[in-house]
Formats: sequence, structure tokens, C-alpha cells
Amino acid sequence: MIQVTSSDYNFSKHRDIAFVPTMGNLHEGHLNLIKEAKLRSCFVVVSIFINPLQFNDANDLNNYPKSIDTDIKLLEIAGCDLVFLPDESILHDIDSIKASDQSNILCGKSRPGHFDGVLTIVNRLFNIINPKIAFFGLKDYQQFILIKNYAFEHFSDLLIIGVPTSRNIAGLALSSRNNLLSAEELSLASNIYKELYKIKTNFSLNNVDLLANVAKQNLTMLGFNVDYLDYLDAFTLNEVNSSTSTIIIAIAVYLGEIRLIDNILVNEI
Ligand code: PAF
Repeated sequence: MIQVTSSDYNFSKHRDIAFVPTMGNLHEGHLNLIKEAKLRSCFVVVSIFINPLQFNDANDLNNYPKSIDTDIKLLEIAGCDLVFLPDESILHDIDSIKASDQSNILCGKSRPGHFDGVLTIVNRLFNIINPKIAFFGLKDYQQFILIKNYAFEHFSDLLIIGVPTSRNIAGLALSSRNNLLSAEELSLASNIYKELYKIKTNFSLNNVDLLANVAKQNLTMLGFNVDYLDYLDAFTLNEVNSSTSTIIIAIAVYLGEIRLIDNILVNEI
């Protein structure tokens, strides 16, 4: 596996790059993105960069879990062709990208500027690496939609693929932040997906508000602080309307200091 740290590296010598951007602390979810990338028989590039521009809380940035040596071993095993480990100089003279209005809802409400930071670094990485396909996890659904729309406008030859969320056996969405939870919190956290799944199972447009309130109450009683639990049109992230075909039910909660997100798609309405 090639290791590159310089943003001046000539990526264009590799044809058909499939790109998986990450902030490291890799888990099965990231490895699934790489598996998908490998299926396209492309040259697989993974980047690891903890992007300070997307953290609006200094503690969150400082506490972000890091495991670079293990990450590199996992990437070797997963068959990654090149790992890109830029240093902070990647941020020099960076073009700041302002995310569209879709960034002001859901996670954007309580994390102002977060998606500007994400798009700013992703735009830079796309410009350096010039991939043919890029892979993102659907756990970060709002991020996926914003990046997909941004790429559609600015990188017309680039295909953005969303990969379904990887979960542990109890249903908890895999996330690097899970490493910051105690064993007890980790087992409690599986209730997030259980509540989403209950809403999906009983879903109708007439009862979804009631179901969402019950889910919020249940989670609050268990000790979660619910930031939001919303349902929206999955393609536009607008309110559900008569042309909606798929609904996304999205949630963000705090368990202690740790913010966890998840979502579930509902097709028939
Ligand atoms: O999803 C992530 O890990 C990050 O937001 C990304 C896309 C790597 C940008 O820093």
C-alpha cells in the first residue's frame, strides 16, 4: 500500500480512482466502504484527516478518537491501494465552501458551520485526488445528500455512492464516537435504532408524529438527551409532501457528552 502525505502528490498517475474519505479510527463501517470501492475494480484511495473545520466544539475535536497505526494495518488487510495522510498544510489557502440551505436543518441546527467545514475539505480532497467514484456512509445521511448535490454541480463526472449503515449485533450504528462510550452506555445506545425501527414498523403519515413523540419520551426516560427526531423527504430533505416516495427518519441524541446520530428509510407511504 502506498502512503502519501503531500497534497502535491500526482494522483493523476493512477487511473479510475475510487475514493473513501475518512477521519480515521476505522471500523467495520469504513471497511465496508472500502469493500464497495474494491468491487468497482478501481484504484482505491482512502484519506485519513481529522478536519478541524467541521468541529464547532474544541473538546469534540480534541477527544476525537485516533488510532493511526491500527488504521494503516486495517487498510493493508482491506486491500486499500493508497492511503492519503495529509497534514494541516492541506488547509492552506483552502477555498471555503458554503453549504446549501439543506445544511441548516437536522444536524446543522445544533452544529452551525459543520457542513461548510465538511464540504470545504471534501471539495479540496476531490480536487487533489480527482476520483471517479467516492463512497460515503448513509449514517451521515444529511452529509451524503449535501455532498451528492455539491458534486453533481461541481464535479459532474464524479459518481457519489451512499453505502448502507453498518450496525453491531444489537443494531447500534457503527461510529468512531462509540469508542467514547462506557460499556453501559454502549449497550444503552442500541435503543436509538430500536426506537427508529419501531417507528418504521408502525409508520403511517397519520401516526408518525405520535410515534416520534413516544420514541423521544422513551429515549429521554433511558437517559438520552434528544437533539432532534425528524422525518423528511429522503431525496430533497424537505417536508414530506404528496410527491414524496421515500421518507428518512433521522435522529441525533446525546448520551452524556457524546453525540450519536442514526436514521432509517421508510419506502411505502
Ligand atoms: O464522514 C466523515 O468522516 C467526514 O465528515 C469526512 C467526509 C471524511 C470529511 O471530513
